Amino acid sequence: DIKAIRSSFFDFTRSVADPSELEGSARFIEDGLLLLKAGKIISLQSWNEAQARLDPRLEILHLPDNIIMPGFIDSHIHYPQTEMIGADGEQLLDWLDHYTFPTESQYHCPDRSAGMASFFLDQLLRNGTTTAMVYGTVHAQSVDALFAAAFERHMRLIAGKVMMDRHAPDALLETPGQSEEATRGLIARWHNKGRLSYALTPRFAPTSSPELLAVVGRLRREFPDLYLQTHLSENTQEVAWVKALFPERVNYFDVYRHHGLTGRKSVFAHCLHLDEQEWRDLAHSRSAIAFCPTSNLFLGSGLFDLQKKWDWRIPLGIGTDVGAGTTFNLLQTLAEAYKVGQLRGYRLSVYEGLYHATLGAAHALSLDGVLGNFAPGKEADFVVLDPRATPLQRLRQANSATLRERLFLLMILGDDRTIYQTWIQGKPVYRRDDDEIKQGAA
Ligand code: GUN
Ligand code: FE
Repeated sequence: DIKAIRSSFFDFTRSVADPSELEGSARFIEDGLLLLKAGKIISLQSWNEAQARLDPRLEILHLPDNIIMPGFIDSHIHYPQTEMIGADGEQLLDWLDHYTFPTESQYHCPDRSAGMASFFLDQLLRNGTTTAMVYGTVHAQSVDALFAAAFERHMRLIAGKVMMDRHAPDALLETPGQSEEATRGLIARWHNKGRLSYALTPRFAPTSSPELLAVVGRLRREFPDLYLQTHLSENTQEVAWVKALFPERVNYFDVYRHHGLTGRKSVFAHCLHLDEQEWRDLAHSRSAIAFCPTSNLFLGSGLFDLQKKWDWRIPLGIGTDVGAGTTFNLLQTLAEAYKVGQLRGYRLSVYEGLYHATLGAAHALSLDGVLGNFAPGKEADFVVLDPRATPLQRLRQANSATLRERLFLLMILGDDRTIYQTWIQGKPVYRRDDDEIKQGAA
């Protein structure tokens, strides 16, 4: 059976290699009709165009006050860190020791993992995020719990078990052999099950021995369609530490490249302190970057160079990096990305921002064949936005003349109140109004 939604729609029709192409790729249909069937997009047309050929018996959901966009994609997030978001006053390496490792040590427990996995996915949905690339902890059971919860919700999710064998508390360490065995088990149980994909997840170079990285490289060669996610060049002390730990490697990026961990479907978070050679090698490898502005500001890690992403044509997705990031909401994350741009003399347009949260992120994750816009045949994951969710937003939307201004305000003032509904595979899975009723009753 066919579902029909009449509303305003915004998406990008194609991936771009240069920011000058963004406006041409952007599509806004003020009054449009979206047709869905079996969880996929059939078509998106203007109302006038669609109306002529419409079956009069078709029931149409009319949302005249909303804007519908493809579901947001969070390219980098740690689900076990949900419960430690907003930990006070440290930079990366101390933050890991004081807050992250003690928290992650709890995830040997399947009940805790299941409870937090469910809370985490509900946070994604109430923020309009329909797909994410997620870290578990070192414990296989943490990732079993997350995949099980995502499978139940029919979400497209990429995730993996953190691999680490040094420089962390004993409770979080494994041998390379144990890491390989646990990872193989997870791949067998979950990779390509429904909409789920597995990501090899060596935490970062400092918690990886060369032997562990060699194991990851072997798995990558054996399973070339797996994803790989890790952290790269986030903090200057971390970069200096990697230099000391791997003196035989040319630079930080080379630690990963040496073991065959770079390339398509590899996503490197942060990339704040790369040298020119690393930028070039990253670009030539065809790897992608996850840009996490709220995390980079919160931990004082640095200001990402957006211009370099375009100079080197490196695919990029925006990430929250919760719990170093301070929000699940990708609109708020884009607002911070805009401010990072300001501090670097780079003007992040609203088109560029929204692109990196939708089709651009899908492209970075090699998912642009299946989602990221309203092209026919794509999976029907989308978010219904309310641009007038607050009195201030009503005032500013009313006195803004152009579409560009109104979208920009959505990005700068938007938050979880802006998320009116979230749909997965053509079905509503979150409604703000239901949520308010539930919270009022609680
Ligand atoms: N580098 C290694 N582990 C982590 C982590 O959990 N969060 C962040 N932001 N950086 C890391
Ligand atoms: Fe991270």
